[in-house]
Amino acid sequence: TRPVIIDCDPGHDDAMALLLALGDPRLDLLGVTTVAGNQTLEKTTRNAQKILALAGASDVPLAAGCERPLVGELTVAGDIHGESGLDGPDLDVPVAGTAGVHAVELMRRLIEGSPEPVTLIALGPLTNVALLLRLHPEAAARVRRIVFMGGSTDRGNTTPYGEFNIVTDPEAADIVLRSGLPITMVGLNVTHRALATTQIIEEFRALGTRLGTTCAELMTFFADAYRRNFGFEHPPVHDPVAVAYVLDPSVVRTVAAPVVVELGGTYTRGATVADLHHRSARPDNADVAVGLDVDAFWPMLIGAVRALGIP
Ligand code: BDR
Ligand code: CA
Repeated sequence: TRPVIIDCDPGHDDAMALLLALGDPRLDLLGVTTVAGNQTLEKTTRNAQKILALAGASDVPLAAGCERPLVGELTVAGDIHGESGLDGPDLDVPVAGTAGVHAVELMRRLIEGSPEPVTLIALGPLTNVALLLRLHPEAAARVRRIVFMGGSTDRGNTTPYGEFNIVTDPEAADIVLRSGLPITMVGLNVTHRALATTQIIEEFRALGTRLGTTCAELMTFFADAYRRNFGFEHPPVHDPVAVAYVLDPSVVRTVAAPVVVELGGTYTRGATVADLHHRSARPDNADVAVGLDVDAFWPMLIGAVRALGIP
């Protein structure tokens, strides 16, 4: 099994990503860290605690991290994820406490304590990950790979060219992309293919478990939000795609390319500029996701929720 740490801001799709990591036996989820993004840090942390509790995984260490981006103010995505950050289902469940250390410190301990190099999966703004790289370069050097959901090779969802996680903390994304570590960028260009159709939602409901129902209700709320905000017929379930790639790289096709984040830009701050055709002289610094095997992806996610088997 592959040891991973998930840094996230749950978030409907973050919640689904956590369930995929917990339910698939190929991954060993060493810890979960939270960051401000979809909602405030207090809310994303609470939501992560609830998902772990619902999945019977309250023993997984959890730590809260940064409550705002490195530069500028936090703008949450209440229009997409609701007031709680996880609106829709009834998530009333007793939760466990947090590890009582900062997310960056928990990451350092888990990375240094793991006999095998850890894969870091980042599903929110990259604030915690950037701080880990700056504060603990020796720990960061032991990371096997950073796989983040964020950015896009085409258009954005928060600004015309900017995706939410990158637009929320462009400087953090810049630090990560310049780190020299192995990096995979899983952007909107592929996550927009992971659509939770009505049939998929019904498959979750048909599992007949509380978790299955919770997933169906999360995606139903998400579907309404995407219809309202974007006019999409079905919502893209972004974050689990990054986890699916770590589970089985054959599910996501990638190409190596130079990627930079636009930090200035009159209209484009936070855009990820991926030079897929190598028109610049910049060296490749990321494996960029360009394709998704949708038919393999959904059975993985549904299978993981089934495997968790909580009645
Ligand atoms: C990303 O932004 C968040 O709203 C989602 O959780 C996902 O990580 C998609 O742009
Ligand atoms: Ca997220």
